[in-house]
Formats: sequence, structure tokens, C-alpha cells
Amino acid sequence: MKTVTVSAPGKLMLLGEHAVVYDRPCLVTAVGQRMRATVSLIGPKEFQLEAADVSVTGYSKPMTELVDGEIPKGAKFVEVAIKNFNEKFPLTKGVRVETTSEFSSKLGFGSSSASTVCVIKALSELTGNKLDNKEIFELAYKTVLDIQGKGSGFDVAAAIYGGTLYFVTGGKVIEPLDIKELSLVVGYSGVKADTVTLMNQVTELAKKNPDLVEGIYNQIQKLVEKAKIELISKNWTELGKLMTKNQGLLKKLGVSTGKLDAMIDVACKAGAYGAKLSGAGGGDCMIALVPEDNKIGKIQKNIQAVGGEVINIQTNVQGARIEN
Ligand code: MEV
Repeated sequence: MKTVTVSAPGKLMLLGEHAVVYDRPCLVTAVGQRMRATVSLIGPKEFQLEAADVSVTGYSKPMTELVDGEIPKGAKFVEVAIKNFNEKFPLTKGVRVETTSEFSSKLGFGSSSASTVCVIKALSELTGNKLDNKEIFELAYKTVLDIQGKGSGFDVAAAIYGGTLYFVTGGKVIEPLDIKELSLVVGYSGVKADTVTLMNQVTELAKKNPDLVEGIYNQIQKLVEKAKIELISKNWTELGKLMTKNQGLLKKLGVSTGKLDAMIDVACKAGAYGAKLSGAGGGDCMIALVPEDNKIGKIQKNIQAVGGEVINIQTNVQGARIEN
């Protein structure tokens, strides 16, 4: 039995969410917590999945029935990924997948995209097709679109390439930035947000008020372009200001929450350079850009004092890699 284990990192959006779904750029960093998939080609022509972290155990179905019928939420991305791979590179065997995650799927770190990337990269290795990063991106991004209907693919790119990226919708640009350090404090709001619901909410606002939303996207685009320069030149004070401005625009889009606002506010008051929600909003996490000094403890305490959970992360980590 041929088996390969691939791991891929989670992600945090630094600036540009929502606008990046509509032909604008964003900045994203890959985070230290990783998703792992052990993938085997097996005799029976079945798809088998063990993904206890997302409550899927003992799941199996014939390969000919991939994506037929009701699919458990935790199995969707892996199953559609295998179907998409199989359509492009027909598999002669069955596929067994076991996934484990170093981070909870509740955080919004992109566990679905990371597991999609792990499975496609493992299949590419097992079948000898040796897809390059862009080919893995195309198949994984198709998988996200098949399931969600919309999305920029920035999370897929972060899982594949790692590091910190300047990214434009659908992978039109995927530019790794030469960043060595990026000191963030991350606070979880305690609320699991649903990305598709939030994206639809913004679409509704755009239908009612297209000029307002287009204007906000254009302003976010400008912030991202400036932030890229400040990030590369390690101008943390300016980068922080741009992040806080981005948060103001996300509030106008209606995707922040009272809890996120409170965590962001106290982080800034305790000495963060800037702070904002990260991801779709409606919950999940906030990030604060912080000086690497004793202010970090105060910032973390303040976030906890308003009910946030501090999540320890590394930023800028390595992308998808084969583990065995
Ligand atoms: C969600 O983490 C970020 C969004 O911009 C969606 C996407 O880029 O796919 C809201």
C-alpha cells in the first residue's frame, strides 16, 4: 500500500478580506499550526475517511459515488478534492485519507482549504503526476468554488506556498514577500463564523448599495498596496495604522462584531501598532500587530479581560510539505 503524509499550514488574513473576493489584492500569512493528511491508494475502489477532529469516523463510499448524496460537513472538502483530482488524473485504486489538525476548525484558520491542499498534493505524489504549486492551486481552488460558490482562494495559496503573500483574486497574482518577522497577537472571539454567510451578507449590501461597497473595496485596495510596502520595509507603526483603517472599512461593511471591536480596542489601547478582525468577520479571530517587547503581555491580558481567548501562533511559516 502506497502512503504519503502531507502537512499544510493554516492562515491569517493581514489586510484585504472581502475586497479580495472581487478582483482586489490582500496580504496573508501562513500560521504555525498545521493540518496533516495521510493518504493511501488502497485495493478496494472506495473512498475512506477518518477525520475525528471534524467528527467524521469510519466514513466510506464507492469511488464511483463520490459527491453523490448527503456528505457530512467534515468530509466535503476532501471528497470533492478527490473527485476533482480523479476527473483530471483518473485513479485506478481507492483512496484512504486520515486527517489530523493542530488547530481547531472553529478558529477560522482555514482548516478546510489546508486539508484540500494536503490531499491534492499527496495524490499528486502517490500517482507520480508531480503537480507544481500552481497546478495544485487550480485544483484546490476549484474545490473551494465547487463547495462555496465564491471565495478568493487566498487560504488555498497560503496553505500551498506558506510564508507571507501578496495575493490577488483567484491566484491572478501570488507573490511571496521576503518577510522574516511579523509579531502578531491573536484573539479568538469565541464565536465560530461562517464565511459563506458573511460573504453573502456583503453581497446583499452591495446589491442595495453598490457605490458604497465598490468605494469601500477601492479604499481597501489602496490600504493593501500601501501595507505591502510598509510590511516589506518593516515600518510597523505605519502598517499598524493601515490595519486599524482596514478595520474601520470592515465595520462599514457590517462584518465586525461588538466582541471583535472590544478586543481590537483594548489591544490598541495597550500599545499595539494596530488591530483588526482577520477573515470573514462575524466572529473568529482578531489580530493585533505588536512590538516585540513587554507590551505583549499587557495586550494579551486586555484581550482576555474582554472575554477573548489568546491563541499562540507563529507567522510566516513553511507551506505544504511531504512529511515522510
Ligand atoms: C474569509 O476568510 C476571507 C474572505 O475574503 C473570503 C475569501 O477571500 O475567500 C471573506
